[in-house]
Amino acid sequence: MKQLQGKVVAISGAGSGIGRALAHEFARHGSLLSLADIQLDAVNDTAAQLRAVGAQVITHRVDVGSLADVTAWAEQTRSHFGRVNVVVNNAGVALSGTVGALSIQDYEWIMQINFWGVIYGTKVFLPHLEASGDGHVINISSVFGLTSQPLMSGYNASKFAVRGFTESLRQDLELSRSCVSATCVHPGGIKTNIAKTARVDASVATLTGKSAADATREFEMSFITTPAKAARVIVDGLQRNRRRVLIGPDARLFDWCARLMPALYQRLFTAAVRWRSPGAKV
Ligand SMILES: NC(=O)c1ccc[n+]([C@@H]2O[C@H](COP(=O)([O-])OP(=O)(O)OC[C@H]3O[C@@H](n4cnc5c(N)ncnc54)[C@H](O)[C@@H]3O)[C@@H](O)[C@H]2O)c1
Repeated sequence: MKQLQGKVVAISGAGSGIGRALAHEFARHGSLLSLADIQLDAVNDTAAQLRAVGAQVITHRVDVGSLADVTAWAEQTRSHFGRVNVVVNNAGVALSGTVGALSIQDYEWIMQINFWGVIYGTKVFLPHLEASGDGHVINISSVFGLTSQPLMSGYNASKFAVRGFTESLRQDLELSRSCVSATCVHPGGIKTNIAKTARVDASVATLTGKSAADATREFEMSFITTPAKAARVIVDGLQRNRRRVLIGPDARLFDWCARLMPALYQRLFTAAVRWRSPGAKV
């Protein structure tokens, strides 16, 4: 999809971070926007910024983990603009803790948003994208969909699943000669609110010697790319019909770690966490 002028783009999690920056980037290209977030005030703020520069925007309060919400969002988008060309399944949350300490409810929470949110967004929008004659699905995974990290099993599981689902989706679409394509995005550390809103279990403090606030601050220090830059890279990947988009030098480094030492990198990453955790209680 080279030409984005007049294309209808639906973005989830558009009240903050990468989703908000993507809304600005698509608006710069002249796209029409249907923005969703679980926080209506936040997504309305994004819309107000965009309307001030003349963009056409509608907003919706959507919990991406609710099939009913996502279905209503897709219907409202199509009935308002008459078509949908692009869906960006971007909304996501983070979770940190050991497998032993995290509850089943913690795993259900993150999978409902990060995994089922992507399945719902893809399945529900796909018929609309096909009807448009020129459609694209963009699913946001992570570098943690390429490599695992200690204390991140729930997030890793959700983001590896998004990658597997999206890569297979792209193959299905090619096999069926569909007018729709798909891209899986793997951001490295992006300066957003994701760490601040993460659920952090007490097991992180035991194993690292850091409070949840300190662990969050340290995690945020690895956020090296701005959301605006991330949005430009994603839109460029869409225009080039890339199947995989990596964002930031850290994402490329993690990718090479997984390729060159698919088992050894795991030991190295664990050693790196231990090395940065002199106050650990074990
Ligand atoms: N920031 C990073 O370093 C980074 C790295 C890799 C991948 N990602 C992924 O990028 C995506 C965007 O995250 P971000 O970094 O911009 O974070 P963010 O916290 O700044 O924005 C996430 C947005 O999603 C919304 N959201 C959360 N749960 C929702 C739900 N159930 N339904 C609808 N909206 C919901 C939030 O309200 C928020 O506006 C996520 O999928 C995240 O996993 C981020």
